[in-house]
Amino acid sequence: MESIDDFCKSPYACSIKKVEGFFSSSYGILAPQRSQHPLDQWSLEEDDGPIFQYIYKAHQPKRHLEFGTWQGWGTTLCLESCSATVWTINLPDGEDRPDGTWAYGQRVLGPQSTAQHNIITANYGDDELGPRNYHRTDAGDYIGRIYREKGLGHRVHQIFCDSRLWDNSNFSPDFFDSVLIDGGHHPDVVINDSRKALQVLRPGGLIMWHDFCPQVNIRSQFESVKGVTAGIEQIFPELQAHLERLYWIKPSWILIGFNKSKPKKPWVQQLKEKLLN
Ligand SMILES: C[S@@+](CC[C@H](N)C(=O)[O-])C[C@H]1O[C@@H](n2cnc3c(N)ncnc32)[C@H](O)[C@@H]1O
Repeated sequence: MESIDDFCKSPYACSIKKVEGFFSSSYGILAPQRSQHPLDQWSLEEDDGPIFQYIYKAHQPKRHLEFGTWQGWGTTLCLESCSATVWTINLPDGEDRPDGTWAYGQRVLGPQSTAQHNIITANYGDDELGPRNYHRTDAGDYIGRIYREKGLGHRVHQIFCDSRLWDNSNFSPDFFDSVLIDGGHHPDVVINDSRKALQVLRPGGLIMWHDFCPQVNIRSQFESVKGVTAGIEQIFPELQAHLERLYWIKPSWILIGFNKSKPKKPWVQQLKEKLLN
């Protein structure tokens, strides 16, 4: 690999149809049709959602880790596609942009009752629709609200911290069957999350990054993609050392890799262990 552009073509780019071949035991579970949307009008829910859903169904993780919960859409997709328990991490008070503004906010119309809830709000005066009230949607009670509203909270361990401070040392190195990295998009955060994920991903486990797209027009247009691809580029030799395979699913905003499997023990040792047990 010379540069991130190499992900645009084989052997680093692969179609969703080819992804089916990676999950040998997933008989009868078929990959979705490729979306016809152009990559600059791509959405998580409509375009990458069916791909993630297929991957969770085919891989069937028991323990899944997700960096970046937001309102819990991706966590819910995983919970509804397999029997996994999910550990997911989010900043407790939301992400700031470099200029100090909120990275995730939404205008809320009509009367508001936030007294019972841990919700961060802001008011920016009035306009023809009424008060310009905003909620910070990646903070407080908004974090993970979708999986809680669907009654799936009993299968989730919600971790509130900056992922750069997350202590993963009490998880064994083979704890997670799969990981999705979809938190902060700054290269330093992507590198931190990738390294921490690989420390706790089992041999043969699956690692995925969202907001990855190697095409120059997408990288230059979307800050999130620019940050994620820059992070991946910086640690590419490390990823190659850890992973058996690494592919951009074309077309998508998803990068997918498989951890190396445990080396097979020589047959004499296997026999010895069998006789001793
Ligand atoms: C793109 S959104 C996640 C989308 C989510 N996976 C979904 O399915 O809807 C990114 C989230 O990562 C969180 N985040 C950003 N930087 C973070 C960091 N350093 N540590 C933990 N969470 C972070 C943001 O607050 C935000 O909720």
